[in-house]
Amino acid sequence: GKADIGVYGLGTMGSALALNLADNGFQVSVANREADWIAPFLTEAGPLGERLQGHEALADFVQSLSRPRNILFMIPSGTPMDVMIDTIKPLLDEGDTLIDGGNADFNDTRARSAALEGTGIHFVGMGVSGGEEGARRGPSMMVGGSTHSWQHLRPMVEAIAARHKGDPCVAHVGPDGAGHFVKTVHNGIEYADMQMIAEIYGMLRDGAGKGADDIGQLFAQWQNGPLGSYLIEVSAAALQSVDRRTGLPVVDIILDQAGQKGTGRWTLIEALKMGQSASAIEAAVGARGWSSEKSLRVAAEPVLTLGAVGGAVPSNDTLKHALLAGRILAHAQGFRILTAASTEFDWSLDLARIAEIWRAGCIIRSVLLDDFAAAFRGDLPDGHLILSPQITQMLQGSIPSLRKVVAAGASLGVALPALSASLGWYDSIRRARGTANLIQAQRDFFGAHGFARVDDEGAFHGDWNMIAPAP
Ligand code: 6PG
Repeated sequence: GKADIGVYGLGTMGSALALNLADNGFQVSVANREADWIAPFLTEAGPLGERLQGHEALADFVQSLSRPRNILFMIPSGTPMDVMIDTIKPLLDEGDTLIDGGNADFNDTRARSAALEGTGIHFVGMGVSGGEEGARRGPSMMVGGSTHSWQHLRPMVEAIAARHKGDPCVAHVGPDGAGHFVKTVHNGIEYADMQMIAEIYGMLRDGAGKGADDIGQLFAQWQNGPLGSYLIEVSAAALQSVDRRTGLPVVDIILDQAGQKGTGRWTLIEALKMGQSASAIEAAVGARGWSSEKSLRVAAEPVLTLGAVGGAVPSNDTLKHALLAGRILAHAQGFRILTAASTEFDWSLDLARIAEIWRAGCIIRSVLLDDFAAAFRGDLPDGHLILSPQITQMLQGSIPSLRKVVAAGASLGVALPALSASLGWYDSIRRARGTANLIQAQRDFFGAHGFARVDDEGAFHGDWNMIAPAP
């Protein structure tokens, strides 16, 4: 019979998703650009092979699917996706849906949706999180596109998704590029969280002289508490892993230059375009950039003074609470961007549902997301997560630790760019009267840009020659 869904692209993620779909009882057709990947994939599928069929020719692949067709692409984002759309379009019928499950730039997804409008063919940008294991056993999925596509995809994605107490971690978050946008922000938060964990590691390694294994054991303890999360779990496990060749901790033989494929950067580019700033995410992207300037750092170490003013590494408990505060603030920044995008693109994003589908399956899953989901379902003053009673209470307990840790980093010369950026944001938003009055004065002074008064309506200019006489 005809297959329920087609999966094109048998790389790590595509293969895992195809197997997951077959595992859940769906008939799946698969295809791949290099046709010789198909047979080994089917052989390795073992008994699941009876629900899988491979097709070398694109036309056969398309013909093997029940209508309206759902075709999931797990291929490199960018040009390959555009080429694929052009190639497959003539083979499709009205009502068919093409799904891009890769990490695509949501601007591209919007453009592709717009280009297909009026053809009867639907385009879905779907964020998939959880890596290979997630894709195989249960990812978290953020689906964009039309309600028509969602109706047809829903039974399949709900079946294969990760579950949080029975609730599938997948939702139709909004039209066109919304799914990819939400995934992008997920990755931005992922970058910030990874960076903050690395900063605490740096404090313990460079400030306290602790070894990787000790730090890994400490993180493993933190796993059973408010920091419980996939990223703490993998950091603990990674720090305790040993290199076969040297017998040293693996992290000690890994070069300190971080890669990135773009999603973290997109988060802040989009944030800046909307007049927002996700400073913790910015710091995390920046830190990856600086990490790659290895030769500069090597040259700088002996010549740039530490100028340390003395200080001690805070207690493990203080470090733990500082990380919790930083994590809360980075998420709050991420959700602020989602709110801004929801307004900007008229998406009506359901932030509570987004927090809920991030509770399992995805890379940033954590017990904290449980608290966020509850906060979004509860009393949210003006829609601001950071003002919800649950969150303000958690911050009350953890902000003093964040201050101590950021201060210690400053005096010891341990770089904490993301943690200190999150604290800088916190202190900016918690002050009703900020210092932008002086920025406005400066702007008006040299450029006559005008300012608003606290005691009157309208636009005003200062008489900048009227300098008050000395008393
Ligand atoms: C996920 C991850 C996943 C991946 C990205 C980001 O949610 O499963 O975010 O999509 O890790 O490729 O990786 P980079 O660090 O390479 O940008």
